[in-house]
Amino acid sequence: MKRSTPITIEWKPDRNKNIPVYKQIIAYICEQAASGRWPIGSRLPSQRTLAGMFGVNRSTITAALEELASYGILKSSYGAGTQIASNTWSLLLPSTWNQYVSSGYFQANQAAIQAINHLEFVPDMICLGTGEPDPRLFPKKLWEETLSGLKGRIDSLGYLEPLGHLPLRQAISEHMKVLDIHVPPSSILITSGSLQALQLISVCLLKTGSTIFTEAPSYLKSLHIFQSEGMCLSGIPMDKQGISIPALEQRLKAGRSSGSPVLYTIPTNHNPTGITMTDRRRQELKSFCAANRLPIIEDGTYEELSFDDAPLKPLKASDKTGNVIYLGSASKALAPGLRIGWVAADEPIVQRLGDVKMQMDYGASSISQWIFAEFLSRGFYDAYLADLKGELRRRRDNALASLETHFKGIASWNIPTGGFFIWLTFLREISVDALFEKAARAHILLNPGDIYDFKKSNSLRLSYSYVSCEEFRKGAGELARIVKEL
Ligand SMILES: Cc1ncc(COP(=O)(O)O)c(C=O)c1O
Repeated sequence: MKRSTPITIEWKPDRNKNIPVYKQIIAYICEQAASGRWPIGSRLPSQRTLAGMFGVNRSTITAALEELASYGILKSSYGAGTQIASNTWSLLLPSTWNQYVSSGYFQANQAAIQAINHLEFVPDMICLGTGEPDPRLFPKKLWEETLSGLKGRIDSLGYLEPLGHLPLRQAISEHMKVLDIHVPPSSILITSGSLQALQLISVCLLKTGSTIFTEAPSYLKSLHIFQSEGMCLSGIPMDKQGISIPALEQRLKAGRSSGSPVLYTIPTNHNPTGITMTDRRRQELKSFCAANRLPIIEDGTYEELSFDDAPLKPLKASDKTGNVIYLGSASKALAPGLRIGWVAADEPIVQRLGDVKMQMDYGASSISQWIFAEFLSRGFYDAYLADLKGELRRRRDNALASLETHFKGIASWNIPTGGFFIWLTFLREISVDALFEKAARAHILLNPGDIYDFKKSNSLRLSYSYVSCEEFRKGAGELARIVKEL
């Protein structure tokens, strides 16, 4: 048998470092193997000797050697002890990268959201909180017509200009006139969903340390886009008419000194509460923001889903000064997988966002932009939307009736006038975390209020968009039973 090379160790882990001792040992052994100082076949001293050399417990050595063996860097065999088995980068890489996993500045998702993102794909799960249109409502025929309309017309799928596909921007500019938003195509930037628009705003327009005022609860709280950039979210209470202006005023006065504050608001079919800001509140909010030079990000992601025949105008509609950046999306009324959203704002703003977007991804998917442009310009969107809203209204009524049957005396809730969501608050304090877990075991997926709120929440975001009437009824009945047992 070939004699293995003896190895020497003149190193000890540094206990003052932030890195766990066993990870330092792993890194040290990897480095020795990768540099060739410990060639393949080198035999390591016994675990007891290693523990003495490194000045650590034997269990620390065992943990480090097991991890190295799992990467294939070490192997143990009877009679030959533990030897270096590999020094290739491909095998060493996992341990090196593992140390970097959470080094980046972007914060991880909340644990509950990570769980939801997986559980949504479990078959037979009744998703009572999912903020998406039911895939069974997908307008197959319309899309088939749209796609066949494009037959032979797509002459290239190259990168598009920085603001996005011109025919799409023209179609969106035309489309937004119904909302009384009048902006030329040069003031529209196509993004990969409105989510990307938020990210672009955070990296292009806002300073680290700035305060973002928003409704409490808010969709924004479920993301870490602004916090990851070192900004601070400040949740402003809502009433049935929308965000509370006296509370905003108080908060603004108290914290104005930090960075350049902005207001992020979802006035129409708010996520997660389903509240639509009244017209009066909209006017007051606009005057307040203008007087206090507080710029507004208006999230119109659910704009088109109001059941009212004469929906309220967005804040952007009468914006003469450019104080409002408006975000639109094709996700909620049509297809989230298209990943198409847009920003409507003054030209210097969209130019700046577009320039950075080019550095990030060279533009939203060209094929999606072609398809959505075709969809809009074919002129059947209005009829489709009327059908979708009819169905959503039917589902809302069914959801409210189910809650009346199963949750009377247990919880209170609001009556949304559009969108997907009902905000349900339990009358007695319950552990929403425990409810989430028990419900998931019973194949009911919930969106706990904590995800969106700024304080401990006793609420759930319910959604009637993703499940059929029957599924909602069944899910609500089962949920009420679990709540009573808690
Ligand atoms: C209020 C709000 N804004 C933005 C988004 C992001 O949507 P998308 O990126 O799909 O356009 C969502 C998605 O749930 C949302 O609820």
